[in-house]
Amino acid sequence: MFAEDLAVMWEWLAFGVRWLHVIVGIAWIGSSFYFIALDLGLKKRPGLPEGVSGEEWQVHGGGFYRMQKYLVAPPELPEHMTWFKWESYSTWLTGFAMLAIVYYAGANLYLIDPNVMDLPVWGGIALSMASIGVGWVLYDLLCKSPVGKSQNGLMIVLFAILVAMAWGYTQVFTGRAALLHLGAFTATIMTANVFFIIIPNQKIVVADLLAGKTPDPRLGQQAKQRSLHNNYLTLPVLFLMLSNHYPLAFATEYNWVIAALIFLIGVLIRHYFNTLHGGGGHLAWPWALSAALFIAIMWLSTAGRVPASGEGDQASLAAAQPMMAVESFAEARDVVLTRCSMCHTAEPVWEGVHRTPKNVVLDNDATIALNARRIVMQAGLSHAMPPANVTEITDTERQALVRWYDEARAASGLAL
Ligand code: HEC
Repeated sequence: MFAEDLAVMWEWLAFGVRWLHVIVGIAWIGSSFYFIALDLGLKKRPGLPEGVSGEEWQVHGGGFYRMQKYLVAPPELPEHMTWFKWESYSTWLTGFAMLAIVYYAGANLYLIDPNVMDLPVWGGIALSMASIGVGWVLYDLLCKSPVGKSQNGLMIVLFAILVAMAWGYTQVFTGRAALLHLGAFTATIMTANVFFIIIPNQKIVVADLLAGKTPDPRLGQQAKQRSLHNNYLTLPVLFLMLSNHYPLAFATEYNWVIAALIFLIGVLIRHYFNTLHGGGGHLAWPWALSAALFIAIMWLSTAGRVPASGEGDQASLAAAQPMMAVESFAEARDVVLTRCSMCHTAEPVWEGVHRTPKNVVLDNDATIALNARRIVMQAGLSHAMPPANVTEITDTERQALVRWYDEARAASGLAL
């Protein structure tokens, strides 16, 4: 099989898994938002059945729904119940698959930056997995410790941990991987909350009820606390997952401060909706404060130094070597230098392009070689680049890019 076919299949695998990840993520977050709003909207009234703590009427899709919540459990459980857990599990599973496809398989390009820390690929992957696993263990211990008794105290400590992790990740990985890992770290805590606490506790309650025992109310309280954390963590996680498409967020010096402020904005916006759904009306201040923080983020992204993207250092050069060694490189390089580098350079000379697009530098042998796969995807196999073909690349030139990629891959024996 040609290297090019494999690359096409890999690209589609990445897209397919990403699509799935977004679908199940929507299902998880959607049901989570729905139940939070439902919970806050429940009203007490005289005459509700025993054990019912509140009721709400809802209208949707041509029908009327009468929702009632039993605080601990109904006197008798029905045969069939719908459990909400696979939305969360499948989001984590597809998310982990994305992490492996993009950041583990593409570790040299996306995970490891030798200028930040010169890790071997296996070391980077091990650090990635370990940090995510250890994060959950620490968080869980913290919630169960005396600190966990104070709702607000715990939130403040958690925030401090997230900021520390944001900084920590920027000290070992590329900026892009750092923000994404902060998102994965947080999202793992959220899914683990469902998997290790919320669902098992609920199972114990059900078993107790079936056995005719009164369930321990602490089980419910613990689940509630974890649910509350998940509620506040959702929006920042979404930002962090999307951030890898925006170099101003991930590839600037204060990226970890930006991430920290995003957690605050997420909490503020959730606070607005929680208040609204609880019948507290529209608060203006969370939006005003969020807007101010967002402006601060924009400013932060332009302050400080933009780290160079792995140019010229020994490790990157070594990785680029096989791509430069083949005969077809010279032709491909000339195509890139004449059709791409006016935009893809530190200080673009194309009118209207003020920053290196997506931080992709393509103005010398090493950076061109290092970005071989992306170049071929954007300008060889697809016609995404140059945008609107402004630099008038020809089909022959596109074929030269593909030929180079195939030859280099065949020669170097690289899988992808
Ligand atoms: C007129 C300026 C311009 C030229 C010329 C240009 N690009 Fe781009 N390039 C951009 C912009 C703008 C983006 C960001 C597009 C976006 O936001 O989706 C980009 C993005 C990219 C990306 C990143 C895509 C991603 O989403 O990860 C690659 C890779 C790329 N270009 C390669 C090339 C190659 C190869 C060429 C030459 C054949 C080229 N570009 C020519 C402006 C240019």
